[in-house]
Amino acid sequence: MFDRLKRLAGDPARQEIAALFAHDPERAATFSVTHDGMLFDYSKTRIDAEARAALVDLAESHEVAARRDAMFAGQAINETEGRAVLHTALRNLAGDPVLIEGRDVMPGVLETLARMEDFADAVRGGRFTGQDGAITDVVNIGIGGSHLGPEMATRALSPCHDGPRCHFVSNVDGADIHDTLKGLDPARTLVIVASKSFTTAETMTNAATAREWMAQSVADPAAQFVAVSSALERTGAFGIPPERVFGFEDWVGGRYSLWGPIGLPLMIAIGPADFRAFLGGGADMDAHFRDAPLDVNMPVLLALCGIWHHQVCGYPTRAVLPYDQRLARLPAYLQQLEMESNGKRVTMAGAPLENGSGPVVWGEPGTNGQHAFYQLIHQGTQVVPCEFMLAATGHEPHLAHHQRMLVANCLAQSEALMRGRPMAEAREMMRAAGATGKELERLAAHRVFPGNRPSTTLLYDRLTPRRLGQIIALYEHRVFVEGVVLGINSFDQWGVELGKALASEIEPILAGEADGAEKDGSTRALIAQVKASGG
Ligand code: F6P
Repeated sequence: MFDRLKRLAGDPARQEIAALFAHDPERAATFSVTHDGMLFDYSKTRIDAEARAALVDLAESHEVAARRDAMFAGQAINETEGRAVLHTALRNLAGDPVLIEGRDVMPGVLETLARMEDFADAVRGGRFTGQDGAITDVVNIGIGGSHLGPEMATRALSPCHDGPRCHFVSNVDGADIHDTLKGLDPARTLVIVASKSFTTAETMTNAATAREWMAQSVADPAAQFVAVSSALERTGAFGIPPERVFGFEDWVGGRYSLWGPIGLPLMIAIGPADFRAFLGGGADMDAHFRDAPLDVNMPVLLALCGIWHHQVCGYPTRAVLPYDQRLARLPAYLQQLEMESNGKRVTMAGAPLENGSGPVVWGEPGTNGQHAFYQLIHQGTQVVPCEFMLAATGHEPHLAHHQRMLVANCLAQSEALMRGRPMAEAREMMRAAGATGKELERLAAHRVFPGNRPSTTLLYDRLTPRRLGQIIALYEHRVFVEGVVLGINSFDQWGVELGKALASEIEPILAGEADGAEKDGSTRALIAQVKASGG
């Protein structure tokens, strides 16, 4: 299957993206898919009808539809941990039964959602207070999946904010919590300790520091702490009573957990109604993913474009480029979602992957990236498939001219990547500027753009809670489809464990409680230098 795709990708007939448009005037329509007002345009890639058919065959041959149905049906598709994968249940607002081994999880999901809503309303309405009055600031302490989603989404939906200010602390670097707490009033601050396991060292260290900070001026600091976790016994040991613990079960992976209690800071910021709209967007994308045929299925096509570019064409990375400033943290969020999910080396059965893992994912919002790394994207020697995201309109009608510039820039970038600037055109420019002879040749060479660089564009009207829910669910399902095709379990993350274990060995060496003689020469020398530098 991959051999066939590689042959197609190497075929001279489909080398030039621009030529595909010349041969097919309808290409923009036939190589894009719409859903509920969103457009995913993949026409500026080298995928043609034959390649698309081969990619869809690939998805079919890996039984993507059957795996998808198994996921929604609550089967233990996370085989290395023996767990179901049911973050989709968290946005199943209709409450249709979702069974794990015959037990319907929906009553518990909806009960927790109702508790979150009560609590969020109480905080927002001033019924839940700090020692000195209504809560003005919420500090979410978590890391990875217990941080990136809520931070990203809270920023994305800032036009909907009408609750207390939300802050996010993740790094164990003391600078993070220090700078966040500085200036906050402990007597009017709520701390959410978000950790699925409630053992993550960074989060537990930050939570203890926050408690000490609060205890300096608040008589009962625990009363202003909330826990979000699936380890309820540990939250009790930390001193947070069960009525302020919001639990979720092990069938929700950390990086898929924004839809449940991990989304509490978002709900407090935007209110339960908008949070439900966000869930509704996710549920809508679930329905599309389940129902649409593979060749018009947005998450499937997004995944197949990813596989085409990385596995088939061999491009090592992909850039996510939101032309929507409020999605500034989306690239970081997607780095965890995609790279923690599909950054694996063996198949579900433990055999080496035949077609490699997922690619490196990176990005920044436009237009900022244009003034930073787009130089390499346009003229560097490696091809970076670009995934543009674009909101047609903003939330600031009085700044419509900004939005027009933003949109024009996004569209210009994908056009420039595809068409490039040939040498003849560059020479003409230099000639017009008065250059001649060898100097003209030299200067023109720097102004050549190879072009023929692929990009996709996800275009939507405006970043509302529902749209954000659709977009995040779209990417979740994209990761799932890529994982199925590559034979990866997208729902474990054993690769983060070794570093954690070694950090806990090095800490006592830094503290002078162990000598570290067993460490390699470089690590010993670095430790010595840290100590010599006052560490
Ligand atoms: O980085 C590993 C990881 O386990 C992530 O998968 C997870 O999102 C993060 O740590 C935080 O874990 P927890 O929510 O258990 O604190």
